[in-house]
Amino acid sequence: MKKGTGEIAKAEGKLGILIPGLGAVSTTLIAGTFLSRKGLAEPKGSLTQMGKINIKKDNETKYVNIKDFVPLAKLDDIVYGGWDIFEDNVYEAAKHAAVLTNDDLNKVKDELEAIKPMKAVFFPQYVKKLHGTWIKSGATKWDLAEQLISDIENFKKLNKVERCVMIWCASTEIYQEPITGIHDTIENFEKALKESHPSIAPSMIYAYASIKCGHPFANGAPNLCIEIPALQELADKNRVPIGGKDFKSGQTLMKTILAPGLKARLIGVDGWYSTNILGNRDGEVLDDPENFKTKEKSKLSVLDQIFQPDLYPSLYKDYCHVVRINYYPPRGDNKEGWDNIDIAGWLDYKMQIKIDFLCRDSILAAPIALDLVLFFDLAQRAGMYGNQEWLSFFWKSPMHPAERLPEHDLFVQSMKLRNTLRWLMDYPLQTHFGDEHID
Ligand SMILES: NC(=O)c1ccc[n+]([C@@H]2O[C@H](COP(=O)([O-])OP(=O)(O)OC[C@H]3O[C@@H](n4cnc5c(N)ncnc54)[C@H](O)[C@@H]3O)[C@@H](O)[C@H]2O)c1
Repeated sequence: MKKGTGEIAKAEGKLGILIPGLGAVSTTLIAGTFLSRKGLAEPKGSLTQMGKINIKKDNETKYVNIKDFVPLAKLDDIVYGGWDIFEDNVYEAAKHAAVLTNDDLNKVKDELEAIKPMKAVFFPQYVKKLHGTWIKSGATKWDLAEQLISDIENFKKLNKVERCVMIWCASTEIYQEPITGIHDTIENFEKALKESHPSIAPSMIYAYASIKCGHPFANGAPNLCIEIPALQELADKNRVPIGGKDFKSGQTLMKTILAPGLKARLIGVDGWYSTNILGNRDGEVLDDPENFKTKEKSKLSVLDQIFQPDLYPSLYKDYCHVVRINYYPPRGDNKEGWDNIDIAGWLDYKMQIKIDFLCRDSILAAPIALDLVLFFDLAQRAGMYGNQEWLSFFWKSPMHPAERLPEHDLFVQSMKLRNTLRWLMDYPLQTHFGDEHID
């Protein structure tokens, strides 16, 4: 993260939120925003809408709403737009996703129907299970990037939007490693766009278009996308905040809540087996091994940093960590995640913990997406750019500089986020010394 200096610009005018992928998460986000701003539902799970922060000035401690403490855009000022490979408007897409009830969707039907997807940039080899028809054509990938840039400019003009943030909520793409000569510098990346190199994924083209227009980009899926040095270089050059990846919504959230507790008590872990059944379109896409590999890498990454097996070999060395996702259509978006944790206590006596989390995937992910776009907009107005590490709280696999491990412990992440807000507003950072409550 590059730190800005000086005043934070006010959140004046409308904030455009541009979303590649109008599926379960994004339609739940959009409908939830509309229901909340009409006072028809509560935005539970959202730090920006319901969170409070403990601040201390002149030796007095008090709690204030986060949204009153930092100058965030208001829900009333949000305008949504997006792209999908299917032509359905957001109302139809939300019905298809079947996360929210018809009763809830009908309360905001007109607003949802008014959001129609723009044609997507899509290459079937990146998501083999989907066969959409609402797709742009262009002579080269460079042309497609230019079409996205025009989409963004048109959206801004049409909706009289002052600022924009883009958040990737489209399907997880196949697993990729960065390639030198293609992904390493912006010069090579642009050359590869013009040559339509097969290793330039759709998500990279959306991210390129967003950063090129000066708009922050957040990656809600685990694909490589903005982790490539070329796009980081462009973000630094254009002073744009970026971040990712993969919303920390269900099973991984539970892991990063529980694992720090076990570690704090020095309880050993011999194995952690996680499996899910999931029946939505995301589950269908992840049924393809190449797409699942991207998700698996992201899900597997969290425990090592928390347990520090090198520092505590007798507690955590060689623990077995397995993650599975099974596509099971009857469940739809109502995922069930099971965890079996084999733990070892005093004198190495063995115990087990079982978790059965009957969750709703998109109900958990939508508030994360909302908080991210509002904080990314704040970051830009505060002059911060590059990777926003202080938002690791929201990511399953937070982007981090090569010289440092990512932070996965949810409580450290929470402290980091809150202290960054205090730092932005010139309030003292919180420690446990003399503070009544740490949060
Ligand atoms: N739901 C969660 O809890 C959760 C958590 C972490 C990450 N994610 C990730 O968020 C993403 C969205 O999840 P979801 O449950 O909404 O999935 P979804 O399948 O319901 O929605 C994804 C949408 O993206 C569209 N799409 C695919 N490629 C596209 C492209 N190139 N351009 C535009 N649109 C494209 C699909 O047609 C679909 O409508 C997935 O990558 C998922 O892995 C979801």
